[in-house]
Amino acid sequence: MENLLSKVPDVLLMGPGPSCVYPEVYKALSAPTLGHLDGEFIRIMDETKGLLRDIMNTENAMTFPVSGTGSAGMETCFVNIIEPGDPVLVLVNGVFGTRMSDVASRLGAKVTTVEAEWGTPIRVEEVRKAISAGTSYKLVAAVHAETSTGVLNPVDEIGKIVAGTDALYLVDGVTSLGGLPVKLDEWGADLFYSGTQKCLSVPPGLAPCSFSDRALKALKQRSSKVPNWYLDVSMLANYWEGAKRAYHHTAPINMIYALYQSLLTLAEEGHENSFARHKQCHEQLVRGLEKIGVELMVDEPARLPMLNAVKVPDGVDEESVRTRLRSEHNIEVGAGLGPLAGKIWRVGLMGHTARPENVDRFLDALAKVL
Ligand SMILES: Cc1ncc(COP(=O)(O)O)c(C=O)c1O
Repeated sequence: MENLLSKVPDVLLMGPGPSCVYPEVYKALSAPTLGHLDGEFIRIMDETKGLLRDIMNTENAMTFPVSGTGSAGMETCFVNIIEPGDPVLVLVNGVFGTRMSDVASRLGAKVTTVEAEWGTPIRVEEVRKAISAGTSYKLVAAVHAETSTGVLNPVDEIGKIVAGTDALYLVDGVTSLGGLPVKLDEWGADLFYSGTQKCLSVPPGLAPCSFSDRALKALKQRSSKVPNWYLDVSMLANYWEGAKRAYHHTAPINMIYALYQSLLTLAEEGHENSFARHKQCHEQLVRGLEKIGVELMVDEPARLPMLNAVKVPDGVDEESVRTRLRSEHNIEVGAGLGPLAGKIWRVGLMGHTARPENVDRFLDALAKVL
């Protein structure tokens, strides 16, 4: 029988994730699988937690990777905290804010949203207004890097407003972690989740999460059981913390090796150097696009370095350009979602993809296809 894996092409992943995987991460994936309670593996788990705390800038002890993609991280944060009837404020300016609001409402939360037009950031004043309108929110949730639009939200400023209330503060860092500074303790973020397939340059499959002591206290004070067995952090803590570890579910061992390796690679490069590399590649892309008369959708101060919303020029068929980039140049870029479908390409410069030679290759290919 033909093995289809022998035909998998080496595509330059310049979409909204997954990104190109570090070669050393591929190597880590093929290291011998250990048992999930093996002492050697527990050492790797503990080191991974420490490296995650470093890159998230937090002292939170309960900082660990959830088994599942970024959305599993999102579910973990909501399902452990929210009980039916809880008032939740979700800040929405794209697909992932919308998804958070959906996840919260499925748990019976009373969801209020502050919205901003897709392609623009959440306005801090609107958050202040919503928070001072009288409702005592249990949770306020924001997306740091909105991957559907390429917009950076002011999660630090929003954190200052939330800090003046009793609400817990949840930040989605799926696209930002590794490519932009993430400062959980400084922002006052109580809950955080990310994903491995963006600026960490690991295949999709893990969701690094962090719970503050306040978040863990809220979890302890629930009046009902967490309605999801797999994602119950009070049970997961028995596997991820303490001198004696207990089986919860069989951890995805080799994916944890891969995350560990990626965090080591980032620490060796230096986090600040990684952020600077993302920014430089973004600027190189913007300059190159300007030369061929192509514009970005998002205004300068709110542009993400790792996800560029590129306007499809008038008269150009979005899909056929994307298809030809893939078929003729082996480059993947993403399409626009929802109201932005057909209007933008999403060009990712995430993790190992964010290299000057990749930006040049993309610009050359785009110019040829256009
Ligand atoms: C900001 C953001 N949040 C959440 C998710 C969901 O992550 P996943 O697709 O890995 O489940 C994504 C995925 O693109 C994302 O970009």
